[in-house]
Amino acid sequence: MTTALSPKSDRKHNLPSYQEAVNSHDWKALEGELLGRKDGKCNASYEAVDRHVAEGYGGKTALHYVKDGVLESSLTFGELQQKVEHYAKVLRSHGVTKGDRVFIFLPKNPECYVAILATIRIGAIAGPLFEAFMEDAVRDRINDCGGTLLITDQDLIKRVPAKDIPSLQKILLIEDMNAAQPDSSISGDVEWVDKEDGLLIHYTSGSTGKPKGVFHVHRSLIHHAVSGKWVLDIQDDDVYWCTSHPGWVTGSVYGLFAPWLNRATIVIQGGRFKAESWYKIIEDLQVTTLYSAPTAFRLLKAKGDLYKDYDLSSLRHILSVGEPLNPDVITWAWDNLQLRIHDTWWMTETGGHIIVNLPSEPIKPGSMGRAFPGIQVGILDEEGKELPPNTIGQLAVKTPWPGLMQDIWGDRGKYDSYFVYPGWYISGDLALKDEDGYVFFQGRNDDMINSSGERIGPFEVESKLIEHPAVAEAGVIGKPDPVRGEIVKAFITLRDGYEETPELLESLRLFVRKNLAAHAAPREIEVMAELPKTQISGKILRRELKQWELEKELALKTPSE
Ligand code: WTA
Repeated sequence: MTTALSPKSDRKHNLPSYQEAVNSHDWKALEGELLGRKDGKCNASYEAVDRHVAEGYGGKTALHYVKDGVLESSLTFGELQQKVEHYAKVLRSHGVTKGDRVFIFLPKNPECYVAILATIRIGAIAGPLFEAFMEDAVRDRINDCGGTLLITDQDLIKRVPAKDIPSLQKILLIEDMNAAQPDSSISGDVEWVDKEDGLLIHYTSGSTGKPKGVFHVHRSLIHHAVSGKWVLDIQDDDVYWCTSHPGWVTGSVYGLFAPWLNRATIVIQGGRFKAESWYKIIEDLQVTTLYSAPTAFRLLKAKGDLYKDYDLSSLRHILSVGEPLNPDVITWAWDNLQLRIHDTWWMTETGGHIIVNLPSEPIKPGSMGRAFPGIQVGILDEEGKELPPNTIGQLAVKTPWPGLMQDIWGDRGKYDSYFVYPGWYISGDLALKDEDGYVFFQGRNDDMINSSGERIGPFEVESKLIEHPAVAEAGVIGKPDPVRGEIVKAFITLRDGYEETPELLESLRLFVRKNLAAHAAPREIEVMAELPKTQISGKILRRELKQWELEKELALKTPSE
C-alpha cells in the first residue's frame, strides 16, 4: 500500500519488537506491583511521585517549567512530593475526602500538575479543566458531576460562575494554597484505594448532547505505565515533552501519568504554539521525546528550513495524536529532521493508547499504526461482524483492557451505547486494516468535529448560537481545512428584524468564544433562508449541510469549462 519507514539502526531504543511485545505482554504481571502496593490497595499519585523518592530518586529532576520561552523553574521528585503533600493537607483541611470531585482550573504550570496529584493522593477524583474554557463550559462540567471544590487562580476565577454551581462548596486560589498552613493534626498521607476507585473525570464532546464525563479509575495506570514504556519509549535520561494541557486526556495521561510512572523528566510549557520557541525549547532542554498533534507538525513544516537554526540532535522520536497525520508530514520529518513521527490513536474513553507505532517497528505513512500489544482492534460491519482486510468499517476494540473508561458520569445509557455489539467497544471512527494489521483512519461515523485535534460537539455550539437573540436556528459542521484538519462552520437562520452584517457575524463568533471556548467558536458563519431538516422530527440535517459544503468546495477547485 505504502512504503514502510524502518527505524534507523543507530537510534537507540530499548524496545521489544511487536511480536516480542505481544508475547511478553502481561498486564497481570504489573497488577500486583502497581495496583497492590499496600495491602492490595493502590494510589496513582504515589506511583507517579512517592515511589521514585522511596527508591532513591528524590534528587532526580521531575519537571522543567518554561514560561514565555524561558526556563522559569525546575523541581526534583523530592520537591514535587513535598508540594503534593502540602496541597493534599490543604485539601483535607477543607474537608475533601475520598470520592469527592475536585476540579482543577489552572494554566499549564507546575501547580496544575501538583493540584491534580494532590487530589488523587487523598483519594478524591480529579477533574482537570482546559484553561481556555469560559463560564458556561466551566459551569456545565462541574454541575454535571457535583464537584464540591475548585482549585483555580486570580485570573481564571473570573470565569467561574460560582452562584450557578450549587454543589460547589469551596473555591481555593492557588495563591492561598501555597500560603496555607494547615493544622499539624491534618495528615498529608496517601489514601490507599481500590483499583476500581475513581481517578479522573475528563469531559469530552460527542455529536449529540452536552459533553460527557468520561470516568476513569486507578486500574488505568497499568495502561499508562506500559504504554509509557513501550510507545513513548521512556528511558532514564529522557527529557519528555507533551504539549497538551492536562485538561485534555492527552495532557493528563501522556503529559503526567505515563511519563511520571516511568520516572521521566518532563517539560511543562505554557502559552501558545510558536515554531521558533518550540525548536529553542528542544535545543535548550535537550528534549528527547516530543508528543504533540498534527496541526503543530504542519505548522513546523510550513516554516521550512527554520529547523536548521537549532540543534535538535537530542530528539529520538516524535509522537502524534488527535487527528489524521498527513503522510507528507511524516516524510518531511524523516527527510529533514531524520526523525520518525509515530502516530498514535486512542480516545478520551479508551484511557490509553490503542493503535500505535512502536519505535522498533516499520511505519507506514498514512496509517495510524497497529494494535497495542495485548489489545485487539477490529473493523466491524453494521451487524457487528469483523470485516476482511482492506475494507472500511467501524473501528472497534475488543473489551476489556485496563485503561477503558468505567462510566459516563450519571449516564449509564450513554456508556452502554459504546458497547452495542457484545465484546466490542465502538469508537465512532471509520477505518480499514491492511493484511499486516496497520490501521488507516477514514473519518468519523458521526457529526463530531475535530479541529486541531480538539473534539468539538456541534450540539454545544448550536445551543450556544441560538441563545443569541439574532439566531433562530443553527446547524454546525466541521469543514475540511489544510492546517487545522477541520474548522467549525455554522449555518444559521436569523430572527425577524435582524440582517446579515459583518458586525453581526463577528458578534456571534465572539458570543460563542466568550461563553463557551475560543476553539469552539465558528470560524465561518453562513446565513441561510432555511436549514435542511428531517420531515418527521424537524431535526437539522448536519450531514446535508456538510455534503453541501463539500460540493461547494469541490466546485471552487474544479474550473468550469
Ligand atoms: C480522533 C484524543 C486520526 C478520532 C486522545 C478519535 C485521531 C478522537 C487520531 C478522539 C489519529 C485521535 N488519527 N484521528 N491518530 N487520534 N483521533 O477523545 O476521531 O480528544 O475518535 O482523544 O480523535 O479524541 P479525544
